[in-house]
Amino acid sequence: MATQAPEKPQFRTSPSAYETLVKHLDAHPEDLPKHPEKYDVSRSDIYYEDRWQPIFAEMRAKGPLHYVSESPFGPYWNVVSHKAIQHIEALPELFSSSWEHGGITILERDMDAEEGRELPMFIAMDRPKHTGQRRTVAPAFTPAEMKRMDDEIRKRTGELLDSLPKGEVFDWVETVSIELTTGMLAILFGFPWEDRHLLTFWSDWAGDTEIALVKDLTNDREEVLQEMATYFQQLWMKRAQEEPGPDLISMMIHSPAMNQMDPREFMGNLVLLIVGGNDTTRNTMSGIIHAFDKFPDQRKLFEENPDLIPNAVQECIRYQTPLAHMRRTASEDTELFGEQIKKGDKLILWYLSANRDEELFENAEKLDITRENARRHLSFGYGIHRCVGARLAELQLRILLEEMHKRRMRVHVAGDVERVRANFVHGFRKLEVEITEF
Ligand code: HEM
Repeated sequence: MATQAPEKPQFRTSPSAYETLVKHLDAHPEDLPKHPEKYDVSRSDIYYEDRWQPIFAEMRAKGPLHYVSESPFGPYWNVVSHKAIQHIEALPELFSSSWEHGGITILERDMDAEEGRELPMFIAMDRPKHTGQRRTVAPAFTPAEMKRMDDEIRKRTGELLDSLPKGEVFDWVETVSIELTTGMLAILFGFPWEDRHLLTFWSDWAGDTEIALVKDLTNDREEVLQEMATYFQQLWMKRAQEEPGPDLISMMIHSPAMNQMDPREFMGNLVLLIVGGNDTTRNTMSGIIHAFDKFPDQRKLFEENPDLIPNAVQECIRYQTPLAHMRRTASEDTELFGEQIKKGDKLILWYLSANRDEELFENAEKLDITRENARRHLSFGYGIHRCVGARLAELQLRILLEEMHKRRMRVHVAGDVERVRANFVHGFRKLEVEITEF
């Protein structure tokens, strides 16, 4: 193969895709306005220090929309209620996701980026293009496909859990969350198992989605993308000569819509699938452990009632909210919940806030694995862009809890906890834990 898997320490110490992104999304103290607006929640320190909750609660109490006229990312609207976010996502013609209008995060699109060097992905496209491209990958995530992947994901998850050190402090993020997510993606793609760490490597270096969408790609990233393209091309040719298989690559090869996709779009969508499933699933796996440790009554409930696992998965996804926001851009002037929105206005849909909305979730700040409406969380978004990989993420998380339960494994936070410094990805950089039995 043209590309060699990097040595483990090399990619493990590299910043993740989102952390690279953070360099751009993060408002460094010297860049911040001297007197930041009260509701400028683009500041990543509030997520890093885990003190965003009261700011959003105050906004929600006052109304669903709040205008921020000045921020390191320019002016924007905060959309903070569950109802308002659903409303906006249900109107994709009026509220665009397209990278041509600015894309899907708070970041401003760099209009000076060299033409043709963007990496187009369907998460940042509007209808009708979005529909056709989503259709090429959606069949890989049907319930029948999930059943097919269940055995292999379970086997790999069990092997990893059995290999964990006992009576010793280790980093759950590196040892479990990253490893299991990489394995899950390899199974989805039908990717050679021995090369699976390349997926993490590519995701961390090349899969800098938003930068790819909004900025000129740097040469380093272009190089990594080239390597990735070569690898996938070879895998593609190999698969094309084989009988159609159930994995994602094979499915894409045999999809009629693929014929209309140009190579740049194909690469963009591969990167989207790798990156989209990576930090999100990884951070939920870390979030579950952190939340169970913070709410030991809920951990006990899980230990005593494994039947609660499917609902616990939903509740943990609600509680963690691995992506803090998505962005839409108004494609015309309109009135929204009593506010005048101008064409081109940037609307930031704060899923973190929607998932704490007391109008819908009682005691929203508490993890409650028996919560009846936990499924109504907005962590996967809503409407035509709702996460296409949601079922796969849910499957992996359910299997993780089931296999931990089988092994009577209790995981305690036992050392450093470091959060990601970002306003987009919401998760953990480090989570030191120790395992005991229940
Ligand atoms: C879209 C979250 C796992 C692939 C999205 C969106 C969110 C999200 C918020 C945008 C929704 C919107 O704009 O309304 C998550 C979370 C995950 C997760 C929280 C894990 C807990 C995955 C996995 C994959 C994946 C495992 C695939 C391997 C995608 C793709 C899109 C997407 C391709 C674009 C869908 C579209 O534009 O139609 N995800 N995701 N995600 N996600 Fe996920």
